[in-house]
Amino acid sequence: MIELIKKLTQAYGPSGRESEVQKLILEELSDHIDGYKFDAVGNLLVWKQGSSGKKILFDAHVDEIGLVVTNITDKGFLRVDAVGGVVPHTFVGHRVRFPNAVGIVYVEGETEEERKKNWSNLTLDNMFVDIGAKSYEEAKSKVPIGSFGVYDSYFYKMGDHLVSKAMDDRIGCAIVVEVFKRLGSCPNTIIGSFSVQEEVGLVGASVAAYTVVPDVCVAVDVTDSADYPKAFKRHSMALGKGPAIKVKDRASVSNRQIVEKLVELAEANRIPYQMEVLTFGGTNAAVLQRTRAGIPSATVSIPTRYVHSPSETVCLSDVENAVELLIQYTMKGV
Ligand code: CO
Ligand code: ZN
Repeated sequence: MIELIKKLTQAYGPSGRESEVQKLILEELSDHIDGYKFDAVGNLLVWKQGSSGKKILFDAHVDEIGLVVTNITDKGFLRVDAVGGVVPHTFVGHRVRFPNAVGIVYVEGETEEERKKNWSNLTLDNMFVDIGAKSYEEAKSKVPIGSFGVYDSYFYKMGDHLVSKAMDDRIGCAIVVEVFKRLGSCPNTIIGSFSVQEEVGLVGASVAAYTVVPDVCVAVDVTDSADYPKAFKRHSMALGKGPAIKVKDRASVSNRQIVEKLVELAEANRIPYQMEVLTFGGTNAAVLQRTRAGIPSATVSIPTRYVHSPSETVCLSDVENAVELLIQYTMKGV
């Protein structure tokens, strides 16, 4: 499964430009699904048909945060804006990968004073990207205005911790892919939604469930892991304690029956798990539950250190246990 996680996290897929990731997912799943379709906004929906008449949808968003080129200077440097919830500091000194170039992100400042001010009050407005171009024309030919870039950050295995850009939410994609691969005969129809544009406002998931009309939805996404120095002290989530069953975040309260079922299945099968209350953020469950006349929805999370940075860190055992828990849920969830 590590190879799959590496492949998916390394792929290029900022919000609105997710097709490379979806293509990889389809290749992985070709022998394990009964059908697939792309909907009008670009969500990839896959399914495995059951006979019970009940449908379970697992959602994972395929997009990642990034930068978009807004302007090019006379000398061929790029100006950029955020795609999704970008913390400018996480890009300083790092490389950003565009489809046709790699650039270095840095901070401007003509005097020591200005430099100090810009570094301590960092915004994308006083940052630039250097793609090695010698002129406006050269930069424009490689990275025209409107180009999207992502962290250029390699995958690293650090003991049982896995580090990469885009764990948010390719780790969810990898888990849903793995559930389909390991699924034997299942009475219920299982749908996977590899949703677009979560990071810019839960866009894809707000329509993904409309045509397939599931009985329940479970979003699989990352959550804050508060087990490093001076982390959020009101959060209990930690790496290695198992997948987190979300009770609540800022955008939604998980459906109580789904939460209780997940806890029951984890207990019955001795799968480690932890309960999650996140004091900020949200997942696609917030919009999936509002589909049509309403669909009971919840989230299973993977605790992740340094979310929205080039080094998002997860624990492999949490990932494996999430796959296990969701496989149990495919059988007994509805
Ligand atoms: Co995110
Ligand atoms: Zn996410």
